[in-house]
Parts: sequence; structure tokens; C-alpha cells
Amino acid sequence: PDNVQKNQAGHLQIGGVDSIELAQKYGTPVIAYDTSVIKQEIAAFKKTFLNAGIKHRIVYASKAFSSLAMYRLLSEDDVGCDVVSGGELYAALKGGMDPEMIEFHGNNKTPAELEYAVQENIGCIVVDNFYEIELLDEICSAQNKKVSVVLRVAPGIEAETHKYISTGQSNSKFGFDLDSGQAKKALTMLLDADNLEVLGVHCHIGSQIFAVAGFEMAAVKMVQLLKQWKDEFNFDAQVLNLGGGFGIKYNEDDHPLGPAQFVKTIVQTVQAEAQKNDLMLPEIWIEPGRSLVGEAATTLYTTGSTKKVPGICNFIAVDGGMGDNIRPALYGAKYTAFLAAAPNARTTQKATIVGKYCESGDVLVADQDLPEVHPEDILAIPSTGAYGYSMASNYNRNGRPAVVFCENGHSQLVLKRETYADMLHLEVE
Ligand code: LLP
Repeated sequence: PDNVQKNQAGHLQIGGVDSIELAQKYGTPVIAYDTSVIKQEIAAFKKTFLNAGIKHRIVYASKAFSSLAMYRLLSEDDVGCDVVSGGELYAALKGGMDPEMIEFHGNNKTPAELEYAVQENIGCIVVDNFYEIELLDEICSAQNKKVSVVLRVAPGIEAETHKYISTGQSNSKFGFDLDSGQAKKALTMLLDADNLEVLGVHCHIGSQIFAVAGFEMAAVKMVQLLKQWKDEFNFDAQVLNLGGGFGIKYNEDDHPLGPAQFVKTIVQTVQAEAQKNDLMLPEIWIEPGRSLVGEAATTLYTTGSTKKVPGICNFIAVDGGMGDNIRPALYGAKYTAFLAAAPNARTTQKATIVGKYCESGDVLVADQDLPEVHPEDILAIPSTGAYGYSMASNYNRNGRPAVVFCENGHSQLVLKRETYADMLHLEVE
């Protein structure tokens, strides 16, 4: 692959650390983040907003990768986060995230989760459905508190992406449908609720999106909605949250715009449309998950067995698989693998990289050109920083991999490898 950072030995480097040394030190599979990449992405988003002179907030979507070290990194950079469960909220608070910077999402937050969020005085709750509005108002009243809410709208926009991760269309399970008038009904309920303060509106059209058109349409639609609500209810939104979903590069044939470019378009569209409608500019919030962390990490695996049936198959197995990266099996996601010790070695075979899980669907990379591979080689799969660890499982009682943060030639363990004993922690003996 192009653009691989190599050291003098010709080995792949991650955050200035030799990948072969990482594999020796921490074992494999290991997910190694170059944290400078995360920081660069954050800086690029910020710069885009600052250049446009617009009030903004970057709200990292925890679901892409959540760990205490990640929350610490975000806090240092003034980035907030969204959480979608009590578990993510607990981790964010433990990681030192300022409660004010936390936003709570979800289409079916439980009463216990909402109570917890209200108790912890988090920044806002993104209300998603009528049941939640009533429940939240009652919980606030019981705790004698007022909370800020953001109203999630399903804007009726189909993003071009995998259907499992497309969320803006009218038949999505998320948010209040715009075109049928449900969003308007939700607003009237919220304005009537004694304990809820409406901060603004939200939409999220999907994930791993490459075309900017969907974001433009969403921005126009949302600003027009705010204009209508201003005229009809004298409602002034302080916040317009346009979600995340900015596509990243997984392979050589992916050519995403670069996350900041999406934001530039979003900002310009909102500014122009607000001006046209004579509307006060709200703060613009975005919720990037994948684009902050996806390209920052590379997973290192050790190769083991191979199976070749001439003309039929050529498998190379690694010591991880669908337990640390379910994306190929679940979405047909495509990745590329290469030898960590020789990223640009001449290829001599077409092979399929499989994992060690007991399923034929446990394929990480199908039919890729590779050089000769021997047992105990280290294989690297880049762009595994988003929705890898966070969707990892103990399937087959394989432990979750270790996670390390690397920068400036130093590495730091942030999540330990799960041991056999760890996996028995929940057993009642
Ligand atoms: N905001 C909301 C309301 C979301 O639902 C999501 C993602 C995001 C922000 C962040 O989207 P991102 O910037 O990461 O694309 N497991 C799937 C992705 C599921 C995305 C769910 N929602 C995958 O591995 O592709």
C-alpha cells in the first residue's frame, strides 16, 4: 500500500513505534492507535469551524471506540462525546469527561438510564420518541431538575451507504419523522413540558458516507424547519446538530473527501440558508465517530496455519478474526492486509485472510494479493480504529485484544488483553 510509514528497518511504524516491537511487547492481536492522527482530525474540524467564525461543538460518537484513555484525550482537546447507553455514560464520566459535554442518544433509553443521566447533570439528552418525552419529564420532576433536550428529527433523506447504517430515512427507527408532522408534534410537547428545555434539533443521516449531497440536503431541510418553527412557535434553536457519518479510507480504492471538507460544506450550507431565511445562526454541532478514530488504528495479527487447495482456495489464518473485527462478516466491509515487516513486499499469491473463529464467515480480507507469508509473521490491517474493539466479542471464548496508544515513538497500553479468567468473571460458581 501507499503512504505506509516505515522505519529504517523497513517495518511499519505506528505513531513512530516499530510494529514488530509492538507485537512482541503486547502480543497479538493488538489494536494500535497513532493518537496523533486522532488529534489531527480534531484539529482539522476545529479549524474549519474557526475559519468560518461559527460557534460549534465537536461531539465524539463514543460507540466508534470507547475507553477511558480516549475520553481523557478528548477532554484535553475540548471535545465532547455522545453516549448511547448507561454503560457508555459510566465510562465517559470515569474517563473524566465533563458532564456538560456529554450528550445522550438512543431510540430506547431505559428509565434507569434516563434517571442516571439526569442525576449526573449531563449536557443534553437527545429525545427520540414520544414515550421518552413523557418519561423524561416525569423523571426530572421526581428529581426536581430541569434538563436540556435536543429533538432528533428523521429528515427523510436516504444516504448512500449500507442499509444497516443508514438512519435518516422516514422508516428509520430513530427520531421523529419530519414529513408526517411527528417532529412538530414532538416540539409542541417539549415546549409544554415543565422540566424540559429545548436546546435545538438534531439529525444524523447515516455512516460511512462519501457524498456530500446528503449533508447539504439535510442542512437545508433542518434550517428551513427552524425557520418554520421560529415563525410558528417563536422557537429559537441554539443548537443545530447535524450528526456524524463522514466516510473514511479503508482501502486504496476509497477516496473520501476528508472529514473537514464535509464540515466546510455543512457550515457554508447552513450559513447561506440561514441568511436566505433571515434566521439567527445556531451553534453547529457535529458527531463524528469513525472519522476521528477509524484511520488512526492498525490491528496486528500473527499468522498461523494455511490451507491451499489448488484452483479452489488459499487461506492464511491469523490469531484473531470476527471477534475483534466483525465488520467484514456483518457488512461485507473491505480491508487490506500487508506484512508489517515488509509493507511493500512483492506480491506472489492471491490469498484470503481468515480468523480463528469457528465460522466460515470469519473472513477478514477476501482474495487479496499478498507476498509469501510464513507462520508467525505479523500481518497488519489498517483503518481498524472504529467499530472494531467496540463491537468485539468473546465468541468462542477468545479474549478481546489489547489496545495501545502510540505517539512520538512511545507506546502505552490502554486496554489490557482479556484473559481466560476475565472471561469467567460473570460466572456464578
Ligand atoms: N451520531 C449518531 C446519532 C449515530 O447514530 C452515529 C453512528 C454517529 C453519530 C457516528 O457516525 P460515524 O461518524 O461514526 O459514521 N457499526 C457500524 C456503524 C454504525 C454507526 C451507528 N451510528 C460500522 O461498523 O460501520
